[in-house]
Amino acid sequence: MTDLTRDAVLGFIGGSGIYEIDGLTNTRWETVESSFGTPSDQLLFGELDGQQLVFLPRHGRGHKLNPTGINYRANIDAMKRAGVTDIISLSAVGSLKEEYAPGHFVLVDQFIDRTFSREKTFYTNGCAAHVSFSHPVAERLQAALAEACRKLDLPHDVNGTYICMEGPQFSTFAESTLYRSWGCAVIGMTNMPEAKLAREAEIPYATVAMVTDYDCWHPDHDSVTVEQVIKVLTGNAEKARNLVRTVAPMLAKRPEVDHQGGDDALEYALITHPDA
Ligand code: ADE
Repeated sequence: MTDLTRDAVLGFIGGSGIYEIDGLTNTRWETVESSFGTPSDQLLFGELDGQQLVFLPRHGRGHKLNPTGINYRANIDAMKRAGVTDIISLSAVGSLKEEYAPGHFVLVDQFIDRTFSREKTFYTNGCAAHVSFSHPVAERLQAALAEACRKLDLPHDVNGTYICMEGPQFSTFAESTLYRSWGCAVIGMTNMPEAKLAREAEIPYATVAMVTDYDCWHPDHDSVTVEQVIKVLTGNAEKARNLVRTVAPMLAKRPEVDHQGGDDALEYALITHPDA
């Protein structure tokens, strides 16, 4: 068993409302500057029973940014500068499997990146890096989330592939059918390049994919609409807040170095010669 010797600072990236947590005290919104541009919003710092938490509304308060318009680099950089040691992403998704009905949570363990119009690395301009990314989710965070879901009796599954599309339009039937044939579990528009950048920033990352719809492949369900997503999301928000409250104390302490989660991802990733 790894020694849990270091205080964690948990960061949550998610939709508006996830931060309205009962018992969150000493809250303050703060602007965190990033050299990569403007984050989606200020960061909300708060304490839950003395534990420091940090929240970032991914689309900005009032949902002003579409997935392509989010500055993922600035968001992750701001989290890093705020001292965040571990990130939990709370994300609305469409279901690509019959058994994941709206309201279900999937603790994904893999991603497929189909986005094409986003900045995906911090390493540009004379410095190249290739971090390992075969196992993009931090098992330590995922295991705690699974235990918290069990405690709360939330319908959930552990593992599954999240396919990230560019959007903002939803998928065609042909695309949805293709992604199902690839065995993907859920589809969303935001976790890439977020997870890649978290790895480059050496911040362990895990996702709670909250199912809002059956996308457009299901013969017995209408194709997804924003109205449906919002309706289910509103129902899911309370579950998500309970999950945050329950999982936070479980992750208050962390190992000095979480190798699997990517704490030392850059150790063997830089390829540029030091004298170059
Ligand atoms: N977010 C929620 N539902 C979605 C869907 N069906 N496709 C992409 N992103 C989503």
